[in-house]
Amino acid sequence: MQLKMNLIYTNLLLALTGAVPLVMADHSHMVEISGPDEVVAGVSALYQCSAVCRPSCIYTWTVEGQSIAGSTFTLTANGMSTFVSLSCTVTDKDQKSRVSTLVRLVTVINPIAVMPSTDQPLLNQTPKVGRSFHLTCNGAVPPVTIVWFKDGGVLSLDNRMTLSSDNATLTFSALEKGDGGQYECRVINGSVSVISRDYWINFDYVIVTLTGPDRAEVGVVNNFSCNAKCGVDCTVQWGLHAGFPKGKFIAEGTRIHWTPSEVGQTQVFTCIAMNPGAGKLGHMSKPVTVIEGQPRLLASNSMTAKSSVTVTISATLLMQISAFGLKGEL
Ligand SMILES: *[C@@H]1O[C@H](CO)[C@@H](O)[C@H](O)[C@H]1NC(C)=O
Ligand SMILES: *[C@@H]1O[C@H](CO)[C@@H](O)[C@H](O)[C@H]1NC(C)=O
Ligand SMILES: *[C@@H]1O[C@H](CO)[C@@H](O)[C@H](O)[C@H]1NC(C)=O
Repeated sequence: MQLKMNLIYTNLLLALTGAVPLVMADHSHMVEISGPDEVVAGVSALYQCSAVCRPSCIYTWTVEGQSIAGSTFTLTANGMSTFVSLSCTVTDKDQKSRVSTLVRLVTVINPIAVMPSTDQPLLNQTPKVGRSFHLTCNGAVPPVTIVWFKDGGVLSLDNRMTLSSDNATLTFSALEKGDGGQYECRVINGSVSVISRDYWINFDYVIVTLTGPDRAEVGVVNNFSCNAKCGVDCTVQWGLHAGFPKGKFIAEGTRIHWTPSEVGQTQVFTCIAMNPGAGKLGHMSKPVTVIEGQPRLLASNSMTAKSSVTVTISATLLMQISAFGLKGEL
């Protein structure tokens, strides 16, 4: 239903392209709609339709597929849509065939939003399997009734979830994969009910970052680092594709320190995000070309000395690097 409504609004929005109000039929009625262009969800606003008719007008409002008779209409938006289209149809009392319709698009500002609590550690504000997480129904001012929804249905709490006494905060002691989805809160104040802007808990994100230079100078130490942020636990590994790097090569945690010894070589470093259960989650590769050493003003002797050092490490092409501070994150 909501989807269908949204589609209608989108179509109207496209049709109107900012030109509101727009007379869609006979101009002779000179239909006007008075009332605000913007409303706050849950706060009532009055709209009046007026026109010139012979001898008098019959007014019909059409809002969200419902017809309401009369020249005035009180809109109390529930926050589900960003726009509401108000359509006023006017007919002459004696001449029913003369019909005019005016459509007015009203923007709805929703003050209620589900969002991660800001009073939890910054790291916890991005949901992750296994970690605790707090969501708030932001913008709700007690005393009101707050009801939580997940994926469009009333949220059923399990033993990992608790609500604060005013229902404004939903706490997960430890997130599970099944907690992923759309969260909304409904704020009820007497007969007025507002459904919040939604928040999605999503564990599918994998952000892999590989930093370091594209061109590595012979005889100079070049640093590369591999990091990943994932919705599930992940560790990172380095993958070495075009063979083992020649020169002095040190892998230290999530970092690589490489002093190449051979000009012209192209080395491909790959940063791989892994999960013990799900395997490879994502990766990023970077080709690095070894270039001639650039002239240095100082310490040219020590540079030359360094470049001749070649460290041979047994050819394990994939090195398990320690998790990126996982312990600290939990
Ligand atoms: C609840 O509704 C009453 C009556 O309409 C209003 O005065 C009050 O401000 C509302 N409270 C909140 C928190 O919106
Ligand atoms: C809290 O939520 C429950 C169900 O989710 C509801 O029955 C109860 O009325 C709510 N209480 C408040 C104060 O919002
Ligand atoms: C590379 O890493 C080494 C060791 O951590 C450090 O001493 C050096 O300053 C780094 N070089 C650059 C260019 O970041």
